[in-house]
Amino acid sequence: METILITGGTGYIGSHAAVCFLEAGYQIVLLDNLSNSHAAVLQRIATLTGQSPPFYRGNIADAPLLDEIFNHHKITGIAHFAGLKAVAESVQQPLRYYQNNVAGSATLCAAMQKHGCKKLIFSSSATVYGAPGAVAYTEDMPLAPVNPYGRTKRMVEDILRDLCAADSDWRVALLRYFNPVGAHPSGLIGEAPQAVPNNLMPYIAAVAVGTLPVLHIFGNDYPTADGTGVRDYIHVQDLVAGHLAAYAALDKHPGCTAYNLGTGKGASVLEVVAAFVKAAHREIPYQFQPRRPGDLAEYYAAVDFTREKLGWQAQFDLQKMVEDHWNWQKNNPKGYL
Ligand code: NAD
Ligand code: UD1
Repeated sequence: METILITGGTGYIGSHAAVCFLEAGYQIVLLDNLSNSHAAVLQRIATLTGQSPPFYRGNIADAPLLDEIFNHHKITGIAHFAGLKAVAESVQQPLRYYQNNVAGSATLCAAMQKHGCKKLIFSSSATVYGAPGAVAYTEDMPLAPVNPYGRTKRMVEDILRDLCAADSDWRVALLRYFNPVGAHPSGLIGEAPQAVPNNLMPYIAAVAVGTLPVLHIFGNDYPTADGTGVRDYIHVQDLVAGHLAAYAALDKHPGCTAYNLGTGKGASVLEVVAAFVKAAHREIPYQFQPRRPGDLAEYYAAVDFTREKLGWQAQFDLQKMVEDHWNWQKNNPKGYL
């Protein structure tokens, strides 16, 4: 029986992964410092799965705490979600991001090495590619992130690549997410931003539920079909199923491998708004604004490599993503509060 330590396990994606891994028969242990999540999610995980996995409130950079966890549980692998993720904040507070995301991950890896646990799946991001010029991103593209957040992801990828090069016992999957959205179909867990959302889907959801007055659409003059930005949105349930496949494949694939987790299809901001209006049966007022600095017109995942190597591909379309996102938001207008 495998026991997986899920760092960031009370966060948006980590909580969905917790349910997915429990349902697949894994034992799990959760670690989170609750810097961007609520302990209330633990009860929701228990309601959904009938299990209450051990939870440690603490930091991935706390080496004595990591020793305690490894000493109390036979951890066989790690799903590493813990990290700070707001791009604009990373520009304002770069040291906080490098300390939390990079130094924290290095401490986690040192604890793994010390306790002989060398299997890890890591939450990377499509943001590591930067602005490569092509719109379908392939895993072998050069990495050129354009902001501190993206650089923390590349640096952790570098640490993991170096560890695998130095010691052939390590097995690592670098999972490069495109744009995760949606929620568990039960509406019991979902994304619960603690401040005004930065990302499109939670912002639309907040407008739909009435906590924000209007959506600002950043740019309607891009060279795309309707002039608004195009991204590869992926249902969080598909995303965590990809983690399950990646974790299971570690036994077949030694070393360090990067996989895109996306659908391979783009949707524009206006298409997302239209799908949300259809799901929520209410208008989403919006205003066009200038382009957001740092945004690209269009990109999506090349999905062939992941499909071939992991036998996984996304199942859910944009309408299902917004329906589940809305179901969560309308049942929990204030998130977990
Ligand atoms: P989230 O903020 O909901 O979850 C991250 C969790 O990590 C939070 O619960 C937070 O409290 C915890 N955490 C942060 N620093 C920690 C630390 N030092 N020690 C212990 N816990 C800590 O974010 P999410 O959307 O679930 O993202 C999970 C991971 O996926 C992150 O690493 C993020 O960078 C990455 N990612 C997210 C997206 C996205 O759009 N959501 C896209 C690409 C990559
Ligand atoms: C952003 C991050 C990226 C991160 C990703 C995670 C930036 C510059 N990039 O990507 O590093 O990996 O989130 O999902 O922050 N939009 C609006 N109005 C809004 C919000 C967004 O029009 O209020 C538009 C954007 O211009 C973009 C699209 O919606 O065209 C998606 O934006 P967003 O959800 O923020 O994701 P990304 O910019 O793709």
